[in-house]
Amino acid sequence: MPWTPPAAEPAADPALTDTFARCLPTGGRLRGPLIAFRQVDSTQLVCRGWAAAGAPEGVMAVADHQTTGRGRRGRAWLAPPGRALLWSCLLRPPVPPRRWPELPILAGCAVAEGVEAAAGLAVRLRWPNDVLVDGRKIAGILVEGVAGPIPAVILGVGVNVGQAPDEWPPDLAGRAASLAMLGAPVARPVVLAAILRHLAERYAAFLVEGFSAVRQAWRERAQLGERVVRDGLEGIAVDLGPDGALLVRRADGSLASVVAAGGG
Ligand code: BTN
Repeated sequence: MPWTPPAAEPAADPALTDTFARCLPTGGRLRGPLIAFRQVDSTQLVCRGWAAAGAPEGVMAVADHQTTGRGRRGRAWLAPPGRALLWSCLLRPPVPPRRWPELPILAGCAVAEGVEAAAGLAVRLRWPNDVLVDGRKIAGILVEGVAGPIPAVILGVGVNVGQAPDEWPPDLAGRAASLAMLGAPVARPVVLAAILRHLAERYAAFLVEGFSAVRQAWRERAQLGERVVRDGLEGIAVDLGPDGALLVRRADGSLASVVAAGGG
């Protein structure tokens, strides 16, 4: 049975959809449709359902609120209703799955570039794709592969747009910030439009030219030189490999590489 366009989604909010759909690029592979919801479990799960139903590349879900927002490495991603940009997109990249670890790096660059353009803040990246301003996390990215006859990748982005200083769980206070807290009161659709513009450009170039321009852009924004403890490995982050893996120098001087399995 052919995929039913998500315009027929019963839980979608037509007014919100209308607002956010104006953010879409007019050409390229990421043209939507973009469907907006007041509340979902997770926009990742919405897109995963669409992927399983045969939806094409470029469909997107955005939500005011997620009841079970998903972060990297099995963590939760929490935000009060209406405060964060919570967005996911279905990709069907015509590259083999062994190259999927390049996608979180690409997404990190596009989100950093989009937020910088929309909010006028200097944005840095911490491997694989934490998006930081003044050392505080303002956005996170989750890239999940979906196996199947036509494999898919779900790219999810959460940007802290409007949270107030007292709206963080205790473990995040001081480590995360919203754009509003950093003096940039930008509306969520403006942030999404800027991210989509950069993502569409980076993705199109990546599919034609490969990963090297993304790698270079990431290195220019990256917080290298930091201590990394990961999967039994400890050392200093020194570079990004040509495959998107982080190169870490151990205390004995040897180099090891760490792959961001499951988007991080
Ligand atoms: C991280 O842990 O840094 C990644 C967080 C990714 C959160 C976004 S919010 C929109 C999308 N839906 C989810 O459930 N997660 C991602």
